Amino acid sequence: MEVVIKETYEEMSLLAAQLIADVIRRNPRAAIGLATGSTPLGTYRELIGMHRDEELDFSQVISFNLDEYVGLPIDNEQSYHYFMWENLFKHINVTPANVHIPDGLADDLKEACDSYEIEIDDHGGIDVQLLGIGSNGHIAFNEPGSSLGSRTRIKTLTEKTRQDNARFFNSIDEVPKYCVTMGIGTILESRKLVLLANGENKAEAIQATLEGPITVSVPASAIQFHPDVTVIVDRAAASKLTREYHTEPSRFNFQ
Ligand code: PGA
Repeated sequence: MEVVIKETYEEMSLLAAQLIADVIRRNPRAAIGLATGSTPLGTYRELIGMHRDEELDFSQVISFNLDEYVGLPIDNEQSYHYFMWENLFKHINVTPANVHIPDGLADDLKEACDSYEIEIDDHGGIDVQLLGIGSNGHIAFNEPGSSLGSRTRIKTLTEKTRQDNARFFNSIDEVPKYCVTMGIGTILESRKLVLLANGENKAEAIQATLEGPITVSVPASAIQFHPDVTVIVDRAAASKLTREYHTEPSRFNFQ
């Protein structure tokens, strides 16, 4: 596991975008796993800039998002479908048919979850998965207590996550209670993981994820099982770490 501490959110975002761009340049048909929330916005801005200024080509890239709320229409501004088109897809040359986001409106949600797993498999798995982390240590919507071997499925959001996400809605009552999310087992099968965290409210979760035991109480700690993880944090999110870490990634990430 490689942990890189950057001084600022902007530097963290640039490095994450460089890692993803590197995967795409080496394999223009790469399958990239994407995340929502405020954390990856800077990374998406950098990727958009690389598309505009450096001809980073997304036309053959396949994307799989981590999660979606249950019951929000895709044109609802809080849906993750809306988020992804607004903050990334409409600014790059992605092919719409190559975009995959879990379907939170399916009549048969369980069937939709199973199909999502099959689609990931049919594309040969995910090459690089971008991850945020919740202040309670969740990854995607795998809340504390989630099985470390879990697959894409319906989950109930914890009160903590609903409160954290209420800032995007008019009130907490509007925050959905259920979601569809890739499982921890699904995430761990990606060939490479890039986990990002910024801000002091993530410091405790980051410390537990990187320096604590692997436990369902901190779902993100499962990344310790993965052979190719880069964790990029800003100085505030790193503030509770006790070991020594790098400020630059090893050159191997760019080979
Ligand atoms: P945030 O959410 O990026 O909005 O902090 C991350 C998460 O909950 O996984």
